[in-house]
Amino acid sequence: MEILPLTGGLGAEIIGADIRRQTDFNEIQDAFAKYSVIVLREQNAEPADHLTFAQRFGPVNINRFFKPVEGHPEIAMVLKEKDQTAAVGEGWHTDHSYDQAPALGSILRALEMPPYGGDTLFVSMGMAYETLSTPMRKFLDGLTAVHSSRHVFGASAMDSEAAKSGRLGNAEAATQDVRHPVVITHPISGRRGLFVNPVFTTHIEDLSTAESDALLEMLYAHCLQPEFQCRVRWKAGDITMWDNRATWHKAINDYNGFRRLMHRVTIEGVPLT
Ligand code: SIN
Repeated sequence: MEILPLTGGLGAEIIGADIRRQTDFNEIQDAFAKYSVIVLREQNAEPADHLTFAQRFGPVNINRFFKPVEGHPEIAMVLKEKDQTAAVGEGWHTDHSYDQAPALGSILRALEMPPYGGDTLFVSMGMAYETLSTPMRKFLDGLTAVHSSRHVFGASAMDSEAAKSGRLGNAEAATQDVRHPVVITHPISGRRGLFVNPVFTTHIEDLSTAESDALLEMLYAHCLQPEFQCRVRWKAGDITMWDNRATWHKAINDYNGFRRLMHRVTIEGVPLT
């Protein structure tokens, strides 16, 4: 197995591993812990292999809002048809940050890719935190942010193309409002990292609206420095897994007129402190 870092910040490409082989798992798990984003190239996997691989990391968290893959309720379909204009996950986000115990990570399998584009971008939230000034880190360390699913998956979002086309649904289940520290300690590595994101974080508690908006805007601009990012260029058959407590991600929607089909399995996490 060859493990090749994608950038100096985060991400690695893994060549020659097979997610179906239990004997490859320890090395894959170590690479995941080290790089936060791993791209397992050329996997010959079926939905059942995808699930078994995910379950080696922990129990699966079934997404309430994504249309599931037929016959596999634990696998969410991430689909953009060739006549659709909006992609799922176009905004920078952390999956399930609206949950009390946000997901450990997600595993995305590419089934059909457009002839170009459809990449996924990632940001290291550990690097983003570590490169803030000491006074700013101290200030953020005592703060709590509110995250919600309501404005993204609730009734107000139901006139979106994704909802009307049936890719997203179950709006009545979008009732999650949770509080997480603005800076978390990663439950496995112990590394400190920012835990706010532009899609699901609504505000920082105890600040005025103007203060919260300005602070989040500053932090988001800081996070988006290219030095903290990596970009995954997919081929059908690839599988990418990301550490949801250490990264943001975003789907690049630059392939109108072509179909892109992915399957996603998300793994349960723990409450964050
Ligand atoms: C997601 O946000 O989970 C989907 C990312 C992608 O489709 O690249």
